[in-house]
This record gives sequence, structure tokens and C-alpha cells, in this order.
Amino acid sequence: MKVIATIDELRAALKSERLAGKSIGLVPTMGYLHIGHMELVRQSKAAANISVVSIFVNPTQFGPNEDLSTYPRDMEGDLAKLRAEGVDYVFTPEVAEIYRPGANTIVDNPVLSRILIGKIRPGHFRGVTTVVTKLFNIVQPDRAFFGEKDYQQLTIIRRMVADLNMPIAITGVATVREDDGVACSSRNAMLTPADRRAAVVLSKSLAQAEEMVAKGQRSVPAIRNAVRAVLGSEKRGELESVDIRDAETLDPVSGKFKQSVVILLTVRFGKVRLIDQRVVG
Ligand code: PAJ
Repeated sequence: MKVIATIDELRAALKSERLAGKSIGLVPTMGYLHIGHMELVRQSKAAANISVVSIFVNPTQFGPNEDLSTYPRDMEGDLAKLRAEGVDYVFTPEVAEIYRPGANTIVDNPVLSRILIGKIRPGHFRGVTTVVTKLFNIVQPDRAFFGEKDYQQLTIIRRMVADLNMPIAITGVATVREDDGVACSSRNAMLTPADRRAAVVLSKSLAQAEEMVAKGQRSVPAIRNAVRAVLGSEKRGELESVDIRDAETLDPVSGKFKQSVVILLTVRFGKVRLIDQRVVG
């Protein structure tokens, strides 16, 4: 496994792989890897000849009140996990390598980045689309892997690749969960033990919605009310949002739906904001 911190060096290495006819898979991450990230890595290993994992805590996707400096980091641990998985290249650039002095071009989706999480975190998705475009241009992968856990992010990346004619296949990877159903996230470690136990309520409420849809329920208000009732039964969590949207476009749906929809949840435990999602219908 080669660990490379500069764009020039990575480009040179990948150029010879490409000339040798190898396909390239990219898994962008911000490090502090857990089993959710590793599933993306495994899927890249299975689908491409060469797998590149980037570890870069991207400053431009953090708001002024979101603490970039306390974002958890564990480079040694991450590299050990990636080595064990047989990753070919890890890209670990410094901030100054990615953002050069004077850089001011951005990539933004002015529609999808302003709704849902984008409303709570202004500028967040603009930072994501800008850095992911840079990583795509640096690595030039055939395929890139993103988790469904960050459903809005995945939707925005798919839209960007289509809108800007980027020749990259995007694979969405199903959310990897702990044994009790809680979606794996580095944020889970920031929960108190009691809040961690209570966090199961998110996946419970989604299971309830899934069961209703399986039995034929297609009413948005009925499903929203049922999800809210399950979430409301757990007093430790503060419900921030329950959104039911078209699974492809994230357009609002109301009344009865015929298409696939995604249920998006945000619940706060103390200062920790947890998200979860499920596509139904
Ligand atoms: P990060 O939060 O490190 O996540 C990296 C990737 O892992 C994302 O595609 C995310 O959706 C996926 N992931 C996280 N938890 C998961 C889980 N439980 N199951 C499946 N996949 C999971 O998302 C980012 O970094 C950044 O915004 C990035 C895309 C790297 C741009 O900076």
C-alpha cells in the first residue's frame, strides 16, 4: 500500500496503472475509519482493479460554528485498517496541497445544497461538491463510492456527475449498522452510554415506516405521524426533522405517493446530531 501526500506523485503513480489497463476505484473519506467506511473500501476492491482511499478533513465543508479542529483523527489506525483490507493507494494531502493560495473557484448545486441539511448547515454541500470535484480531477477514477447514510450528499454527487458530464460511475453503498440497528458513525462515540442506547429509536422508527409501506400504506401524513410517534417515545432525543422526499430528486411529496420515497431523520442527543434514512415504496 502506498501512502501519498502530493497531487503530482499520486497522478504519476495512477498514470502508470491506467496505462497498464487497470480500472480505478475511489473512496473519499475524512478518516477516523469505522466499519461503514470499510464496506465502501470492500466494494471498491471488488469492483475495480486499483483502489484509492483519500483521507482529507475538508475545511470548506465545516461552518464557522462547527469545530473543524476537534474533528477526530487517527491516521495510524486508519492506515492499519486500509493495509489489512489490501488498499493500493491512500491519498493524505495537507490542506495547502488541496487549497492553493488565491483559489476561489467553487462547485455548487444551488438547489439541492440549500434544502434539508443544507438549510441547517449553509455552505456545507458547496464544500463537499468542490472537494469531491477536486478529488475526481486528481484521481480520475472510473468509479467512486459513497454511503447512503449521507443520502443528500450521495444525491448531490450523482446530480453533479450527471450535470457536469463527469465520466465516473457512482456507487451508493447501503448503510452499515451496529448490532442494535444504529447506523455506524464516528459521532456515536460522542454519545453518553444512555444516549447511545436511546439512539436505536431512529432505526426503530424507520422499521415501523417500512412495515407500514409493506402493508400498503402510501400516505405521507400517516407515515410521518407514525415515525414522529416512535421518535417521541424516546425522551432523551430531541427530534429536529422528519422529511419524506422523492428518493431520486429529493422533491417534497405530499398526500399519497406512487414512487420510491426516502425518509430522512435528524435527532439531537445533547450536542450530537444523528441522522438516518430509509428508502421505501
Ligand atoms: P466521511 O464522513 O468520512 O464519510 C466517508 C464516506 O463513508 C461517505 O460516503 C459516507 O456516506 C460513508 N459512510 C459513513 N458512515 C457510513 C455507514 N454507516 N454505512 C455506509 N457508509 C457510510 O462524507 C464525507 O466523509 C465527506 O463529506 C467526503 C465525501 C469525504 C467529502 O469531504
